[in-house]
Amino acid sequence: MMTFEIKHRDAMGRIGILNINGKKIETPTIMPVVHPNPKKQTVPMDLIKKLADVVITNSYITYKTPNLKEIAEKEGIHKLIGFDKVVVTDSGSFQLGVYGDIDIDPLEIIEFQEKIGVDVGTILDIPTPPDVDREKAEKDLEETINRAKRSMNLKEEKNFKLLLNGTIQGSTYLDLRQKSAREMAKLNFDIYPIGAVVPLMEQYRYKDVVEIIINSKMNLPTNKPVHLFGCGHPMFFALAVALGCDLFDSAAYALYAKDDRYLTERGTLHLSELKDLKTFPCSCPVCSRYTPKELASLDKKDREKLLAEHNLYITFEEISRIKHAIKEGSLWELVEERVRCHPKLLEGYRIVEKYLPYIEKFDPISKKTAFFYSGIESMFRPEVFRHKKRLKRIKYEKVYITNVSNTIQKPYHENLNVLETDVDILIKDPVFGFIPYYIDTVYPLSQNEVPELYEYEKEVNKKFQNEFIQWLKRKIGEDNILDILTYNYYINYFSKKRKIDPDSLRVRKMLQYQYGYDVLEDEDVKVVRSKNTGRLRQVLDKNGDLLFSIRSNDNILIPSEKGAKLLWERIPFPKYRVVVDREVENFAKEGRNVFAKFVIDCDEELRPYEEVLVVNEDDELLAYGTTLLNGIELMEFNYGLAVKVRGGIGKDMKSD
Ligand code: GUN
Ligand code: ZN
Repeated sequence: MMTFEIKHRDAMGRIGILNINGKKIETPTIMPVVHPNPKKQTVPMDLIKKLADVVITNSYITYKTPNLKEIAEKEGIHKLIGFDKVVVTDSGSFQLGVYGDIDIDPLEIIEFQEKIGVDVGTILDIPTPPDVDREKAEKDLEETINRAKRSMNLKEEKNFKLLLNGTIQGSTYLDLRQKSAREMAKLNFDIYPIGAVVPLMEQYRYKDVVEIIINSKMNLPTNKPVHLFGCGHPMFFALAVALGCDLFDSAAYALYAKDDRYLTERGTLHLSELKDLKTFPCSCPVCSRYTPKELASLDKKDREKLLAEHNLYITFEEISRIKHAIKEGSLWELVEERVRCHPKLLEGYRIVEKYLPYIEKFDPISKKTAFFYSGIESMFRPEVFRHKKRLKRIKYEKVYITNVSNTIQKPYHENLNVLETDVDILIKDPVFGFIPYYIDTVYPLSQNEVPELYEYEKEVNKKFQNEFIQWLKRKIGEDNILDILTYNYYINYFSKKRKIDPDSLRVRKMLQYQYGYDVLEDEDVKVVRSKNTGRLRQVLDKNGDLLFSIRSNDNILIPSEKGAKLLWERIPFPKYRVVVDREVENFAKEGRNVFAKFVIDCDEELRPYEEVLVVNEDDELLAYGTTLLNGIELMEFNYGLAVKVRGGIGKDMKSD
């Protein structure tokens, strides 16, 4: 029995709770590879237990080694390796990849994994190397899919308890990876490893690995964990997590130690390169206790054990760092740091741009931390891509496009001296394209730090800016795009003739940007600013009732019950809706959270952390709250929270 639910998220990465046979694992995490023969295990099991909630070992080696087989069959795999938490096993596929042939039947190894009480077993997939002939890749894949089907049938027929890994193959052919993911997805595996990336990682072909991960992910169900098989180098974890990988396995910690190699989150060092340092550049228990010289002078066995321990510590340290980054919304920043550790990693990261339309769907609409620019790649982050799309959500009538000096602090409207009229002022921005003056406080338009840019960096958005201006011209007519003269003329005229409430206009535009609908059209509202900070706080209706609060860190508008009713009236179904089963209708009305299992339909364009309306099939409003899942995930997840409900709607709703 397995459940998987999302707790926190950033980029395509997620902190999830994976519950396997009642044992909980927080993802992303790393599964240390342990040897089925405890005598051959480099790092003592006590340390593994302290750091890991799940390990991976090899069922094929266990099967082939008579004394191991005997113990495993009698006492189970957990006893054999001395680990009582979750045990995953590989099937011998890796050996198949290395030696070209192994002698075991694909179903026999499934039976064996079940017999020895493995929590998650693996099918005997065929790890096709990179760059083989297409025919071979196709033939191998066909065989892997065939074995996958037979393995699943066996599991179902015999009511096996073990969960199964359904590995994605297809060599370096992306369409085959897609096909592999689609076919495996149909078979309803518990975990989806992405296979045969080890040779690519060894050759630093990160670009290919990134392509393979994304093309697989795009065709896999979002509600199942993805394991990047054989990736144990912490340098690549941040990027892999940002692309949606949840699990890693590491034999690297022990293998590298054999050759005196010292892992760091920025790459690998040889012990000999460190021996002149007074202390190690790490403060794990091993590195705090030994100087490089002392460690280097130990005999081979002790050295290997201690290096493996260090390697394991820093591998877990990077996982913790990634989890922290997810919680604070700085995963892309961490990725951008890491990819600068090797040009090939940077090259891999640059592939992300190509897949932004997909990746953006998973990226939260708001984050706790500001957007930090770290180089030209930051121009292609999902936050920027989304803003450029959402710029078109605003209803423009008259527009004045301008530049501001980069010495002016954001948010601009607090520091620019302009006469506030009904003209939309679009401020050219080298990263975000344009920042509309009236929504300049909304995340991430003022929550960003960008250094003074080089001219060539500013060029990046010129094309977008020109295209957007063309779009505007078509939309509102060339005459309504004011130049400095017509703008000055207009505001002079305006200041004499008409009066607007700039704050009302501001929240109206902010809602257009947030929802894509003119929610406050013809609505008479009063906007309250904070007495202390002068910042926007609340939107009240003409009776003085609260419609929206304005969240201070990101200026997202948070509806009250009245605000939710207004949204429901002004935004057509199914936009911004999460439709729930009748069964939980009353729970929702009482203001209780909505769980993924009860979601029967939704706006497929929803993004994580958007403010949504919870309705029944007849679009009767039940509640309002924040969705943790995007439109794809809302339909696919069966466990965990879907909408954190802020409030339920009084039962007299229908008669309103
Ligand atoms: N370990 C590393 N790569 C692979 C793979 O492609 N398949 C399996 N089963 N194990 C692996
Ligand atoms: Zn260390």
